[in-house]
Parts: sequence; C-alpha cells; structure tokens
Amino acid sequence: MKLRFLAIVALAFVSTLAQAQSKPEDMIRMRQGGMNLLSRNVSALNAMSKGDVPYNKDVAMQKAEFVNMLASEIFAAGFGPGSDKGLPTRAKPSIWTEGDSFKAGQEKLLAALKKVQAGAGDLAALKTAMGDVGGTCKGCHDNYRDSSYH
Ligand code: HEC
Repeated sequence: MKLRFLAIVALAFVSTLAQAQSKPEDMIRMRQGGMNLLSRNVSALNAMSKGDVPYNKDVAMQKAEFVNMLASEIFAAGFGPGSDKGLPTRAKPSIWTEGDSFKAGQEKLLAALKKVQAGAGDLAALKTAMGDVGGTCKGCHDNYRDSSYH
C-alpha cells in the first residue's frame, strides 16, 4: 500500500516537527508544509467526489483518514505561542489575540472532515460531505491569512 506508507511517513515527519515545537520557525514550517499537504489531499478527494478522477473506495478512505489526522496535528502544533513571527508567514497576528474565533474556525474544518471520513466509503456521501469543506478553508483564510508574507 504505497499511498498508506507515504501518508504515514508524511505524518511522522509532521509530528517530528511538532515535537520540536518550542522553536517558532519549526511551527511555521510545520503549519505551512502541513497546509500544503492538506490541500493536495483535499483536492484529490474533491476530484474523486466530482468524478474528475475515478472513485476508488480504498484510496478515498485512506485519504479521508489522513486529512483528519493531519488537520488535527497542524492545529495542535502549528500555531503555538510565539510563532506569529520567525520566518516569512501569512498568518495574521490576530490569530494569537482572537484565540476563540480562530479556534472556532478550526472546529468547523475538523467537523467537516469528520463527515468526509464517515462518508468516504460511498461516492454519493463523499460528494455531499466534500461540499462543506472548501468553505471552511476559505472562511478561516479570509479572516486569518494575509494576502502576502510578512
Ligand atoms: C482555522 C484556520 C484555517 C483553516 C480552517 C485552514 N487554513 Fe490554510 N492556512 C491558515 C493560515 C493562518 C495560513 C498561513 C500560514 C503561514 O503562512 O504561516 C494557511 C495557509 C495555507 C496554505 C499555504 C501554505 C504555505 O505554503 O504558505 C494552504 C495551501 C492552505 N492553507 C490550504 C488550506 C486548505 C486546503 C484548507 C481546508 C481544507 C485550509 N487551509 C484550512 C489557516 C487555516
């Protein structure tokens, strides 16, 4: 299972970075790398749900499991105190002053991804669940991601 192996390697990598979370630059690298990996896997699920690539139940279920673990890990370890600067970042400083609202944005994505995981074994259910994901990404980016690096 090449895909599963890659997913586990990627997650181990992300978790290793997360454990070194005392350094702001590690947290920034972790969240940016994690977000890119999240984006690739969410796009793949999207393409499958729309029929742009053939639906494959095993691949869909693996990817759904992976994006759930990945998103939790990014939020648990990627935005710790002090990581508002340290490397070029698009994360707005308000993340660290408006903690509750930023947290609410995280919960929306995590809830949407849970539904994706529950529905991944069935194409129609996957399609319905994927419909809610993009808006949660955009909702948080609109509020908490700058248009350019600072
Ligand atoms: C709760 C807030 C939040 C949610 C939800 C969220 N993001 Fe992000 N995302 C951010 C922030 C903040 C940044 C900027 C990080 C930085 O530059 O340090 C970011 C950056 C990114 C980046 C750019 C990474 C880079 O290389 O700089 C991508 C791609 C991305 N997000 C994809 C996604 C996708 C896809 C989703 C939904 C499946 C998502 N994000 C959900 C907050 C969020």
